[in-house]
Formats: sequence, structure tokens, C-alpha cells
Amino acid sequence: MAVNSPLIIALDYPSLDAALCMADQLDPAQCRVKVGKELFTRSGPAVLEALHGRGFEVFLDLKFHDIPNTVAGAVQAAAEQGVWMVNVHASGGRRMMETAVERLQSQRLATHLIAVTVLTSLSAEELHETGVPVSPGEQVEHLARLAQQSGMHGVVCSAQESAAIRQTCGDDFLKVTPGIRPAFATLDDQQRIMTPSAAIQAGSTHLVVGRPVTQAEDPMSALASILVDLP
Ligand code: C5P
Repeated sequence: MAVNSPLIIALDYPSLDAALCMADQLDPAQCRVKVGKELFTRSGPAVLEALHGRGFEVFLDLKFHDIPNTVAGAVQAAAEQGVWMVNVHASGGRRMMETAVERLQSQRLATHLIAVTVLTSLSAEELHETGVPVSPGEQVEHLARLAQQSGMHGVVCSAQESAAIRQTCGDDFLKVTPGIRPAFATLDDQQRIMTPSAAIQAGSTHLVVGRPVTQAEDPMSALASILVDLP
């Protein structure tokens, strides 16, 4: 199914049952869903099968980071299970990313492959502590460019970074953005947030939204009120 919606709902649940209970309140024509490390580690491929069976396109957010051959194998495994999008860490380097892209191409797998640049949880000091001498913003741009040169389809980034990445990498390069808070929602533990419409205006192509939808009394009406506001 071709979903004409930029929304990706984060199914951050510790069990298959809890994740499916939420998915059953969502419409696969109006959003995609994201499966992260905790849910996948607990439930395994069963969660992908169950979500695909319900008609959802799935972003498998496992942020692979390893030697090229290992990452390529993991990306291939994800793609063969039919996921719509999967990601790796750009800091794994050009060869790691290129090998993963080549693997998908050689197997004729159409899964979107995107890169995490700098984790938004890292402060400037923490980034420096890992041996990176530049600011997080500079490193994000550097890695976004490297990801694009390596054939990746886009990056995960904060909406604050979308405009700069659009400048360097263009409109077609995917910018998948968490930290989204509609005006009606609480901040939760997010610090640097943007509203859905501001994020799209800034250049984000996809919006990852968790609690503003999943913790809402009526998730589909929360989702609809986000969609109606988009430019
Ligand atoms: O509930 P909330 O909307 O804050 O969920 C956002 C989702 O995006 C979570 O799955 C979170 O792990 C993920 N994420 C994030 N910030 C990042 C990268 C991923 O919030 N920098």
C-alpha cells in the first residue's frame, strides 16, 4: 500500500500484545509505524509479520553499526522481511553504508535505507569526549553529506537540522524527524521540539510521533488533528 502521509507512529511498547493493541487503533492508510530495539528484541520478526498482516508499512529502527559485511547482512534480512525502512549509523563509515546499499540493490530490494548522524541525546561535550572535535551541528552536516555520497536515501535528524540538510543534500534526500510535538501535546522528556507543520516547512519529509498519538485518549483523532494541520 502506498501511504500518502508523512506520519510514522513510534510503537514504543515492551510487548507484542501492547504494540498490536495500539496498531489496531490506527489506520494503515493514514500512517506508518516504527518498531524499535526493545519491541523487536522482545518480540522478534513476529511483530513485523503481524503489522504487515494489518497493512502497515514498517520502519525498523535498529540503527545497525558494525563491520560492512555484518551490517549488509542485517539490512538484507530486514528488507527480506518486507520492511519499508531500516537504518544504520553513518559513523560506521562510507564503506559500511555503501556495502549495505549495494546489497539491497544486488538483491533488488526496495527498502529505504537511512542513516543516523549524531544522536540528539549527545551534548557537545559528550561528542567531543568521543574524539569528534567539531560541534554536533557540523558533525550532523558532515555525516549527512557522507551518507548521501554513500548512496543512502536519507537521514534521521531533528527538525532543527532539516533546513540545513535540505540545503546540502536537496529535497529528495529523506529527513526523518522525531521530537515532534503538536500544540495540544505535552513535552514529555523531549527538549528540542517542533510542531508537525513547522517541521514539514523546515524540510522534514517524515515525522516520527510517539506519545502525542499513542498516549492520547483517542489515537486516531490525535493523528487526524496532526494531519489536518500540515501544509
Ligand atoms: O513519544 P515520542 O514522540 O517522544 O517518541 C519519539 C520516538 O522517536 C521514540 O521512539 C524515540 O526513541 C525516537 N527518537 C527520538 N529522538 C531521536 C531519535 C529517535 O525521540 N533523536
